[in-house]
Amino acid sequence: MRLFCAVYTTANLLAKLPSVAMDASEFSMAKRLTRVSAAPIPDKLTLPALRTAAAGCKACDLWKLGTQTVFGEGAANARVMMVGEQPGDKEDLQGRPFVGPAGIVLDKALVAAGIDRKEVYVTNIVKHFKWEPRGKRRLHKKPNPLEISACRPWLEAEIKTVRREVVVLLGATAAQGIMGNQFRVTQQRGQWVQSNIAPLVLATVHPSSILRAPDDDSRREEMRKFVADLKKVAVQLQQRRAA
Ligand code: URA
Repeated sequence: MRLFCAVYTTANLLAKLPSVAMDASEFSMAKRLTRVSAAPIPDKLTLPALRTAAAGCKACDLWKLGTQTVFGEGAANARVMMVGEQPGDKEDLQGRPFVGPAGIVLDKALVAAGIDRKEVYVTNIVKHFKWEPRGKRRLHKKPNPLEISACRPWLEAEIKTVRREVVVLLGATAAQGIMGNQFRVTQQRGQWVQSNIAPLVLATVHPSSILRAPDDDSRREEMRKFVADLKKVAVQLQQRRAA
């Protein structure tokens, strides 16, 4: 088993090198020099093996807060990979991504865009629910760069394992986590962007932002724009199938 390490130094984060593969001696040296956590990535990259290994991940402290690791879901030959931010309350309890209110919006938008849900692998850039208590509720809290960095090896392993002709980044946390902090979903949504994570990469809003729209009209309009972004994915899938 290789040790994929999130090396938590400012330089590392600024250089956007959140994870590096090290051999055991490099790892122990890095551990002495800096704060390092290891995500136990299995040698054999299969989704079941990754899911099992991720269940025991303690690469950052979020494992103490979440009920369980919420790993990605879908087929290894899925043509589309969708990356969100982190599981929400429902996802944390069920152990499955996008099964709560945001997932319902996503499913409706996929139907409206003509994308078969069976062709989609859904995952998150952070795989534990980060929350803070607000009365009896668990209120979503945005993951910080260290938590995103610690979880990165899992996403990298999913990217290597899933077919993914297209990756869709849902919301600013996923988009900036992959494309860098300068990326602005507000300006670049719905555009094809260059990245080595997939042949085609596009960022759009997070479906939960549609739920937060202030009234019915703006919610409808936000949904329309979200579906329009996803239709670009559907067109590419059709064209690539025909080619
Ligand atoms: N929001 C996300 O980003 N991911 C989920 O799985 C659920 C809500």
